[in-house]
Amino acid sequence: MTRVFVFTNHKGGVGKSTSATNTALGIVGMLRRAGAPNARVLLIDTDSQAHATLVTTGTKDYGTDNSLYTVLMADRQNAAQTLLNCIVQSTWDADLHVLPASPMLEGAERELMGIAGAPYRLADPLSRIINRYAAIVIDTRPSFSLMTEMGLIAATDAIVPVEPRYLETVGLMSVIDKINDIREGWRQPNLRVSGILVTKMNNRIFHRNILHGLAN
Ligand SMILES: Nc1ncnc2c1ncn2[C@@H]1O[C@H](COP(=O)(O)OP(=O)(O)OP(=O)(O)O)[C@@H](O)[C@H]1O
Ligand SMILES: [Mg+2]
Repeated sequence: MTRVFVFTNHKGGVGKSTSATNTALGIVGMLRRAGAPNARVLLIDTDSQAHATLVTTGTKDYGTDNSLYTVLMADRQNAAQTLLNCIVQSTWDADLHVLPASPMLEGAERELMGIAGAPYRLADPLSRIINRYAAIVIDTRPSFSLMTEMGLIAATDAIVPVEPRYLETVGLMSVIDKINDIREGWRQPNLRVSGILVTKMNNRIFHRNILHGLAN
């Protein structure tokens, strides 16, 4: 089964996009070194800021007809083909593919609000093309929004990037609660918190107490 890693934390600037993009590239390299027959990884950018899209493709000039927005607005039966049509190759590596974000995603949340099945509009088409990829990595926006919910519903593994600061460790519990809510509420038994990823470590600062707290 192809694993789908979602990087999420409602706190801004903790390193979600940096970690998601570098992990996606890292998986490509790891698979290639291991001689895997398929080293292709798909990075899905669900954040309208499109930072992951910009760094991996060199542009964030994607809109109504060539981005995740297009997939979310497509008819159910066309959505998987639309998804394939919107994927672009990263400038980082030929085996790293990107489903780009678009500023339109901001409005998509309002457009989809209240539409039956809206939270599955990413998971559904993704499940139909997932076998083409060895792994999927999803970057999310800094909020518990419909877009983030869609990312979590499509995922098997949630990774929570967190800075080694006391208040961050307190906020972490609400992120984990949210992920558990999605697993129970949307009946996604495969979704689990696979890791707390400590970012922005500074070796000159003694982080032992905070790391101990995070481990607990
Ligand atoms: N592991 C790290 N070590 C040091 N700096 C980092 C690390 N990860 C990210 N950064 C830096 O922190 C800043 C924020 O990173 P990034 O954009 O990845 O966070 P984010 O959680 O995606 O932000 P947002 O919530 O706005 O989407 C950037 O300047 C980035 O270079
Ligand atoms: Mg980001």
